Amino acid sequence: MSDQQLQEKIIAALKTVQDPDLHKDIVSLGFVKNMKVEGGSVSYDVELTTPACPVKEQLKTECETKTQAIEGVTSVSVNMTAVVRSSEHSQPILTGVKNIIAVASGKGGVGKSTVATNLALALKLSGASVGLMDADIYGPSIPQMLGIPITPPKGGPDNKFFPHEKYGLKVVSAAFLTKQGQPLMLRGPMLGGIIQQFLQNVDWGELDYLVIDLPPGTGDVQLTLTQRAPLSGAVVVTTPQEVSLIDADKGVKMFQQVKVPLLGIVENMSYFVCDGCDKKHYIFKSGGGKTLAETFKIPFLAEIPIVGEVVEGGDSGTPVILSHPESPASMAYKELAGQVAAQVSINQLKEDKAESSFDLAWKG
Ligand SMILES: Nc1ncnc2c1ncn2[C@@H]1O[C@H](COP(=O)(O)OP(=O)(O)OP(=O)(O)O)[C@@H](O)[C@H]1O
Ligand SMILES: [Mg+2]
Repeated sequence: MSDQQLQEKIIAALKTVQDPDLHKDIVSLGFVKNMKVEGGSVSYDVELTTPACPVKEQLKTECETKTQAIEGVTSVSVNMTAVVRSSEHSQPILTGVKNIIAVASGKGGVGKSTVATNLALALKLSGASVGLMDADIYGPSIPQMLGIPITPPKGGPDNKFFPHEKYGLKVVSAAFLTKQGQPLMLRGPMLGGIIQQFLQNVDWGELDYLVIDLPPGTGDVQLTLTQRAPLSGAVVVTTPQEVSLIDADKGVKMFQQVKVPLLGIVENMSYFVCDGCDKKHYIFKSGGGKTLAETFKIPFLAEIPIVGEVVEGGDSGTPVILSHPESPASMAYKELAGQVAAQVSINQLKEDKAESSFDLAWKG
């Protein structure tokens, strides 16, 4: 068999490898690149849409197995890569930022900032370039969680300023715009101004993902940001208790009203794992987040356990995902990052499809 014939057989085999999130085969998705077939020796890249892909290892194994099974193949090397695609931007702001993910909650204190911080770090650890914007103007807590001193950001050209950097993340916080320990007191028009600064005056450079920690609730800041920033989607954090679920419901409705795609729901402090038995104890109530997601027909992204290390991590400036990478909470944050990144890619594919059906309609 010639190299050419063998290559054709391999491509045919790879057409049976489905991306379970995108519901298409990896050849049609254009993921298979740089294939080299020499004698029986085969190598190729599989270029995913996110390095945080939750099924990366599964896809790699399937590609290897299916290629290896073809007669004439003596060795196979599959190289998994990723290039994050950019969500559609209608507004010409934040142009170097490919995807913007807002983390929101209906109620305060449900662990939104902790989720935003660990989500951003999990995406970073997967190999993506990531920024974190602390837009909680009234109670910024990201600098504390990341151990960043409250100092004014460095200015660059064109009135722009640069984010601080910590653990490989680019970080901007409302806290950097105030004197240490002083509350930021804003009235309506000033509020719009500060958000404008956040969106237009920060030089983020090139980012695959920008995670925004919104203030709790559905007030002015959330509305202004969701309308002015070209969001790829929103993640709503809730705890299992009824009071939080009711408010999360309002949060979801707000995003629906402003037509921001919902990436899904995260249930925080879902269960407790005790040292003794390794069992999941649902100490509050179970299944509330999942039910909420089902009601709105949006994805349920992850359940995060209640763990002492999370509090310790938030207070000490070294988030749990870095201090205890193997803890159940860290594993859950990684799972969350994979699901969020997958949802962003799924939405992009829908955009692509909408575009191509438009093209077809246009071409008649
Ligand atoms: N999974 C968890 N396990 C244990 N403690 C947690 C967990 N998630 C968050 N916490 C703790 O709960 C407290 C509140 O979390 P966090 O500040 O992230 O909430 P928030 O929703 O951002 O609050 P706010 O509405 O004030 O902005 C913090 O002390 C944090 O360490
Ligand atoms: Mg917060």
